[in-house]
Amino acid sequence: MLVLGIETSCDETGIALYDTTSGLLAHALHSQVALHADYGGVVPELASRDHIRRVLPLTRQVLAQGNAKLAELDAVAYTAGPGLAGALLVGAGIGASLAHALGKPAIGVHHLEGHLLSPLLADPAPQFPFVALLVSGGHTQLMRVGGVGDYTLLGETVDDAAGEAFDKSAKLLGLGYPGGPAIAALAEQGRPGRYTLPRPMLRSDNLDFSFSGLKTAVLTAVRNQVLDEQDRADLAAELQAAIADVLVSKSLAALEQTALERLVVAGGVGANRHLREQLTAAATRRGCTVYYPPLEFCTDNGAMIAFAGALRLQQGLRETGSGFTVRPRWDLASLPAV
Ligand code: KG4
Ligand code: ZN
Repeated sequence: MLVLGIETSCDETGIALYDTTSGLLAHALHSQVALHADYGGVVPELASRDHIRRVLPLTRQVLAQGNAKLAELDAVAYTAGPGLAGALLVGAGIGASLAHALGKPAIGVHHLEGHLLSPLLADPAPQFPFVALLVSGGHTQLMRVGGVGDYTLLGETVDDAAGEAFDKSAKLLGLGYPGGPAIAALAEQGRPGRYTLPRPMLRSDNLDFSFSGLKTAVLTAVRNQVLDEQDRADLAAELQAAIADVLVSKSLAALEQTALERLVVAGGVGANRHLREQLTAAATRRGCTVYYPPLEFCTDNGAMIAFAGALRLQQGLRETGSGFTVRPRWDLASLPAV
């Protein structure tokens, strides 16, 4: 079965073609980073307008690359939420219209389910069940994943997401958006430990997180002294280390609590090299294995949406997003198990 995937939930237009027999045939991505850079963050109205411009040309490109015709599609999957309402509506509107015109099912995919299942695009792919650490710009969650649609929330952030801690601290340090890659690059020049930042909730006896205090601590450091380039790099390194320490510790606790041995990391923060090194080292010491999606599918992309849509289609599910209805807020645990 051949599925077109359309991702427009935030600042990336991602389009992909996934075939249930041959795998991923083609994918294309247009990043809006340059468009929003002057504003220091995503401007929702500009994001929507740019998605309108990009979706159809990228779809044509992907079809050509995959050597496929529109008429050969078995379904069109699009991100139905969570995300920016206007941006979601672009992908949903085009996806649902395309499906309708072709007389094929439209599948509204949950963006986080796309992230969660994206490590299955890698080789080797993890077997169910596994623990998933979902670390995107807006979410930090630990889940037990028993299968497609079988998601049990183990813990989540009580305030900011890890990605937000990166993004907000980057702004305080005068770095551009998106903040995660900017902090990671600056941290390469820095030493963790020169500044001391908290490891929030590290010792709490649950699997929840709290990251909003970190940006406050960075703000205090920035206010208290004039930072030179080395100071900023040291602060970035310490911030990255603090976030990674908490994510590693809670992920290992989740593996222990669930008695599982496989950990899957998904979402943009999962692209962070320091986090990957720390997680892999700590998990390996415990005899556990960590799976990551291919680096390009850590951040938002169309492949994960085409893939999640194809899995849902195979399991007989249609129109979870029902036409043009998008859900800017959408609880992952509310998805039907199959
Ligand atoms: O999954 P994603 O692309 O979009 C959402 O669904 O939110 O995640 C974006 C988040 C942003 O907070 C960005 O700063 C962070 O992922 N990010 C990183 C890195 N690359 C992206 N954070 C740390 N290190 C990175 N290399
Ligand atoms: Zn995302």
